[in-house]
Amino acid sequence: MTDPQIVLTERVQQALASAFGSEHADADPLIRPSQFADFQANVAMSLAKRLRRSPREVAESIRAALTGFPGTVEVSGPGFLNITLDDSWIAGEATGMRADERLGVPTVTPPQTVVIDYSAPNAAKEMHVGHLRTTIVGDALARVHERLGNHVVRQNHLGDWGTPFGMLIEHLLDIGEEAAVAQLEAGQGTEYYQAARAKFESDEAFKTRARVRVTTLQSGDPETMRLWHVFMDATVRYFNKIYAMLGVTLTDADIAGESMYNPMLEKTCQDLEAAGVAVVSDGALCVFPPGFIGSDDKPLPLIIRKSDGGYGYASTDMAAIRYRVHDLKADRILYVVGADQALHFRMVFAAGRLAGWLPETVHAQHVQIGMMLGKDGRRFKTRSGESVKLADLLQEAVDRASERLADRGYDEATREEIAHAVGMGAVKYADLSVGHDTEYVFDFDRMLAFQGNTGPYMQYATARIRSIFRKAGTEPSEATASIVPAEPAERALALHLLGFGEVVGQVATHSEPHRLSAFLFETASLFSTFYEQCPVVKEGVDAETSAHRLALCALTLRVLESGLDLLGVPVPARM
Ligand code: ARG
Repeated sequence: MTDPQIVLTERVQQALASAFGSEHADADPLIRPSQFADFQANVAMSLAKRLRRSPREVAESIRAALTGFPGTVEVSGPGFLNITLDDSWIAGEATGMRADERLGVPTVTPPQTVVIDYSAPNAAKEMHVGHLRTTIVGDALARVHERLGNHVVRQNHLGDWGTPFGMLIEHLLDIGEEAAVAQLEAGQGTEYYQAARAKFESDEAFKTRARVRVTTLQSGDPETMRLWHVFMDATVRYFNKIYAMLGVTLTDADIAGESMYNPMLEKTCQDLEAAGVAVVSDGALCVFPPGFIGSDDKPLPLIIRKSDGGYGYASTDMAAIRYRVHDLKADRILYVVGADQALHFRMVFAAGRLAGWLPETVHAQHVQIGMMLGKDGRRFKTRSGESVKLADLLQEAVDRASERLADRGYDEATREEIAHAVGMGAVKYADLSVGHDTEYVFDFDRMLAFQGNTGPYMQYATARIRSIFRKAGTEPSEATASIVPAEPAERALALHLLGFGEVVGQVATHSEPHRLSAFLFETASLFSTFYEQCPVVKEGVDAETSAHRLALCALTLRVLESGLDLLGVPVPARM
């Protein structure tokens, strides 16, 4: 059950080596899906120039060298190799895949340690729709890396520290712990923040208290720390409510917020300065990574200690990068964060390389998340201009899904359960079916549509296959006949399914979950065609054909369910 494109690449490379010498063994055979066959190899064109022979002649030599090949190869046009795989080869591979628990998904050896920084909402501000995307995309990447056998370390880099906490804690004392906790747990962080801010601006005594509180917080005063914990615990309980609704895999153990790095910041600065990587400029400690020039044509600083001695976002990220490489032993670090922070991360990575904290052997990537837009084409907000409250938004998705299921005759509890899966699936799949860096319009109608490349359509595809088994009075796990793709639609579906493992690997390599959604969407479409053209259980279909087709249905179902699980999209048993 290897991806045919990979098998063919290897085979053609062997043929290249035997026909033209081993120095050509690494040439890319340029295998592409073809209109006229299963695949075509275009390598003869490029190779002909180098060999000073006609492309057709080169193609003929490759064909002759492809001995013992499980298919037919024809030379067409100026020198294309049209490749058609034998039905028996496809049958054998698909049947093997059905027996394989991993469905052909490779295992990375040795496993890599992949640190994934994702979600990372800020305390005392409403978790907003941008964090929804970093959460969903990051979680899909974490699931995929785990499936591949990598060691994943999730890092939820919460915004949980800094000067605003002085006024936030004083406000907590003013309104009382109980009231504050209730408000924060309910997700009213923005309101809480705004109330504290208003007092800070209008009330001198409050302002003074808040400033003193910042100092006592930074000095680690036990009572202040206790109040900080009261505040943070309530906030995290709200975040967890969102995570639970979404079904993301983040737990409290994955929290590694800005506060965690606080004790490391002084040393971070000292070490960078001692190594000559950071210098004092206008009173601030800065790294000037080469190649970064500001609009004033002057070198751009990454400020790691402000001129007032305070630390900021970049200080924390420098401490974090060292911690992730040195302590967590990362081979790879993914930062699933908004695209608007691209410059920040390029500078942090460059500074990390300069300091030797991010060695060349460790791959750091900013997985840029595009902005979510409103229907007006601007950043997604409510009409009053405030960010939309996430819990309400998610609930709306569930409510709308429930409306759409109204006529299906489910009892209330079942309907709610399905509506939850459909609503969350719709929201999540919308993020995962487009490139992570594309900006797109948040549109419930489009996300919840039962047609097109949407969550509900994908969920429905699985439910439809399950209903075939119900009709047949059997279980997918019992469909263990061999897969024999006799009809073109069966053959196309089986051939496509063989690419599953390869696509999962590609998602990890490129940090692009939408490659998997595109594959699954194509799977569902090919299945539809198959189902239209090849009756599975029907009068006139003999038992043997029926068994072969049920086996193909079962394999399709497993690929869809396994793929949706990797994306973190829930699959209701019925719809
Ligand atoms: N809290 C930040 C925000 O909301 C994201 C943090 C991302 N991670 C990091 N290491 N800087 O924009």
